[in-house]
Amino acid sequence: MKILITGNMGYVGPVVLRRLRHSHRDAELVGYDAGFFAHCLTGASRFSESRADAQFFGDIRSVSDDVLRGVDAVVHLCAISNDPMGASFEKVTLDINYKASIDLARKAKRAGVKKFVFASSCSVYGFAEGGSRREEDALNPLTAYAKSKVQTEQDLASLASEGFSATCLRFATACGMSDRLRLDLVLNDFVAGALVSKHINILSDGTPWRPLIHVKDMARAIDWAVQRDHKDGGTFLTVNVGSDAWNYQVKDLAEAVAKLVPNIKISINKDAQPDKRSYRVNFGKFSKLAQGFLPEVDLQSAVQDLRDGLIAMKFDDPEFRTGEYIRLVTLKRLRESGQLTNSLEWEDRRGS
Ligand SMILES: NC(=O)c1ccc[n+]([C@@H]2O[C@H](COP(=O)([O-])OP(=O)(O)OC[C@H]3O[C@@H](n4cnc5c(N)ncnc54)[C@H](O)[C@@H]3O)[C@@H](O)[C@H]2O)c1
Repeated sequence: MKILITGNMGYVGPVVLRRLRHSHRDAELVGYDAGFFAHCLTGASRFSESRADAQFFGDIRSVSDDVLRGVDAVVHLCAISNDPMGASFEKVTLDINYKASIDLARKAKRAGVKKFVFASSCSVYGFAEGGSRREEDALNPLTAYAKSKVQTEQDLASLASEGFSATCLRFATACGMSDRLRLDLVLNDFVAGALVSKHINILSDGTPWRPLIHVKDMARAIDWAVQRDHKDGGTFLTVNVGSDAWNYQVKDLAEAVAKLVPNIKISINKDAQPDKRSYRVNFGKFSKLAQGFLPEVDLQSAVQDLRDGLIAMKFDDPEFRTGEYIRLVTLKRLRESGQLTNSLEWEDRRGS
């Protein structure tokens, strides 16, 4: 089996590569990434991409058919991966997350790829009061990022066929340690703040609901999707990925961190604008379909793992919210230094 993983040099990618290398020892694993955050490493003992059999450096907007030759399954992680980046680079987000994703899927289908696994997001539910959201419920994408995920899902639905199955994994918000850590994710931010400033600064009033998933459990779900038979779930499947037990309110997360990092102050912002994201999610369909690949990490271990990972990398930057582990900050720095163009292409590789 040959598996192409796009966007493998970000936060989730290294964990996915490790998982797939372990569970598909004979598979040929190929990465494809522009490398925007390739330098944002966190002191891993081994260069993550050495687990791949080959690594391409390229822009997904101009991916060539050659990359897809002989590929059986595509795991498509590549994206402008959160709301703040989507707000700053709105058109680029649409181009990369939607247009290039569908272009890739079309090319993949033409090249004989059998499975397309798309990293979607629970943010498609936007602000949803009341009960927990199921896959069939109305969507409420409120940001460029969330809209790009909805549009891609919709077009994948019409591309999917007997020989080309598409699985849209609507992931909860990720957390946990990675070789390329992100600190713009709620739990990761709380643990970093607790360690370096003894302070968790909740930007909202703490009440928004935010289902979470550990990055290792995301990799487990991706492994399931790569293996799944379309007889279970159909040639086109959209599924919420996470667990019912991990539907938390933001203030619960802060309290979980406070249990493991003692003597910290938690502050909430009583005057905050209502959070654009608040939803509970029903993960029943996933737990029915993906037996053997369901989330295993508990919240306490997730916090411990982050705390220990940050300590091991001697993390001590109280200004981390303006530092390199914030994806938007890194993109803006690359842009301001002229290395990336306004449309987020490498200046010195334009047209390549
Ligand atoms: N982290 C989360 O909480 C979360 C939750 C739900 C869904 N997802 C989805 O999972 C996927 C991976 O997320 P992540 O946290 O690893 O994001 P990330 O930003 O850390 O990684 C994204 C990767 O895509 C690459 N990339 C971006 N634009 C590219 C382009 N034009 N050409 C080639 N490569 C490009 C970047 O270089 C980067 O390595 C994304 O699709 C994201 O939307 C993430």
